Amino acid sequence: MKKYTHNNNSLTIANLQEKVYLKGWVAKKRNLGGLVFVDLRDRFGITQLVIKPDNKYYELALNLKSEYVIEAKGTVIERESKNNQLKTGEIEILVEELVLLNDAKQIPIAVSYDDNSLEETRLKYRYLDLRRPQQQRYLIKRNEITQAIRKELLRQGFYEFETPILGKSTPEGARDFLVPSRLYHGQYYALPQSPQIYKQLYMVAGFEKYFQIAKCFRDEDLRSDRQLEFTQVDIEASFVSEEDIIKLTEDILRTTFKTVLNIDVRVPFKRLTYQEALRKYGSDKPDLRYNLELFDYDKKLNIDFLEAKVVRFLKVENGAKLSRKELAELTDTAKKNHGEGLAFLKCETDKLTGSLSKYFNYETAVKDFKLNVGDLLLVGFADQYEKASISLGAVRKELAAKLNLIQADQFEFLWVVDFPLFEYSEHQQRLVARHHPFTSAKKDADFTGPLTEILANAYDVVINGYEIGGGSIRIHNSNEQQKMFKLLGLEEKTIKERFGFLIEALSYGTPPHGGIALGLDRLVMIMTNTLNIRDVIAFPKTQNARDLMMGSPNYVDLEQELELGLKKGNKDE
Ligand code: AMO
Repeated sequence: MKKYTHNNNSLTIANLQEKVYLKGWVAKKRNLGGLVFVDLRDRFGITQLVIKPDNKYYELALNLKSEYVIEAKGTVIERESKNNQLKTGEIEILVEELVLLNDAKQIPIAVSYDDNSLEETRLKYRYLDLRRPQQQRYLIKRNEITQAIRKELLRQGFYEFETPILGKSTPEGARDFLVPSRLYHGQYYALPQSPQIYKQLYMVAGFEKYFQIAKCFRDEDLRSDRQLEFTQVDIEASFVSEEDIIKLTEDILRTTFKTVLNIDVRVPFKRLTYQEALRKYGSDKPDLRYNLELFDYDKKLNIDFLEAKVVRFLKVENGAKLSRKELAELTDTAKKNHGEGLAFLKCETDKLTGSLSKYFNYETAVKDFKLNVGDLLLVGFADQYEKASISLGAVRKELAAKLNLIQADQFEFLWVVDFPLFEYSEHQQRLVARHHPFTSAKKDADFTGPLTEILANAYDVVINGYEIGGGSIRIHNSNEQQKMFKLLGLEEKTIKERFGFLIEALSYGTPPHGGIALGLDRLVMIMTNTLNIRDVIAFPKTQNARDLMMGSPNYVDLEQELELGLKKGNKDE
């Protein structure tokens, strides 16, 4: 490698008169009073070069354009007009030698300075978009976060092992991506939704402590915190309890926040049971950066349209200032999130206003709900407790944004524990495993009562309202695993076909085990303070599941389809 002496963010007044050798991209070129000034950029920063008219490279300097790649030798001198925005802003390099390493076409997006091109254009030219300083910061932080996590896991004696990408479709949860087999037409491999079963098999094999920074694939509808392929920090350990995995995860997050952001995270994190989270915040991943707690009212309401409904309340201090339009938007949110509507009371100086005002006496309402002038009381309702809570939970989240309740650089960590083992899927019209079917029930679980009341040894870690990770203590007994599949409505034959290998593996002396997976992309997103998961993934898919740069998904040659048995016929026809 060439001996470049410095990066473009390192030279200061302390280096005056030093001979230096730099390289980088032309971020900007100016021609002022006969002198050519070049902002030379690399991933660290910018250094200004100056080329005088008597320099033999002057012609070359005059012809430089944005994004040309150059190298320069010269002497560090003090600048006349200093730029205190730049670390190198007090100096410039008086160039003695200049070499053009490569030229560049006119670029379709601005890269040196943050620009506001459409995201679609940025994703089409992602390799240029990634030159932008902000994008570079995201990905470099991602690297730091990954390394800090890996270091902590290695320190705690975990092995980093891989698992196959071509696996078997065992539908549970999301939709699988399938890969047609060339050798066995009509048969498919599946890409892993997570390495769940393989990591359990590492435990069967006796490795005790496994982790992997693993790619996972789920054919789901995309959201701002969801991608088709994403990365998990996947962890599994044997002879551990829920407390061990919780402690390990806290160690990982605490050291990572300290190393990367120099932030001291308080451990242990707060904990809420799933039921408490739902009751207080209407969410299984509540954002605790602001208060706003849901509550119930134990007096009978004589309100005709709320008869036979589950009604939940949310008091918003100083919320009466919300406009009619904002309240309509909140009502929409309630309805889109399983609620049937949103009613409200505003507390004014000596009267109540709002859709519920005629049902309440001023003094009673002020006393019962501890209202102050300017407060708003929101009332969410639905036919079920869970639905009423979730709808008001969504309203709570939107209120925080509308009322600016969130401060920057605030991180609230939380464990949600005691999840139900099963849940009813309206989509599939049957009971499904809430976490996954390998999760064990609490020790004293009663399988003779309603299955939806059984609690699981499952836990989620939440930061600022995002589910950052989830895990469980697994079923390690073969018969119990079989029983679980049966409870989920799987026929004996299906169990054998899909999971026979696992049932068998569990029968050869499997240690008790459990683990967790952290969503690395989401964690990076939170630690870099962006709301868009695509920002922290180098080559993401759009919200419409396309790679605009490569142009995928795409049609393939007929020959490939014939070979894979996806089309019938002869390729010469
Ligand atoms: P789970 O399905 O909860 O658990 O996933 C773990 C974490 O992965 C992240 N995540 C995603 N991130 C981006 N895009 C997605 N589509 C996406 N889906 C999930 C979330 C989530 O908390 N095998 C189990 C873990 C275990 O039991 O050990 C699992 O995959 O941050």
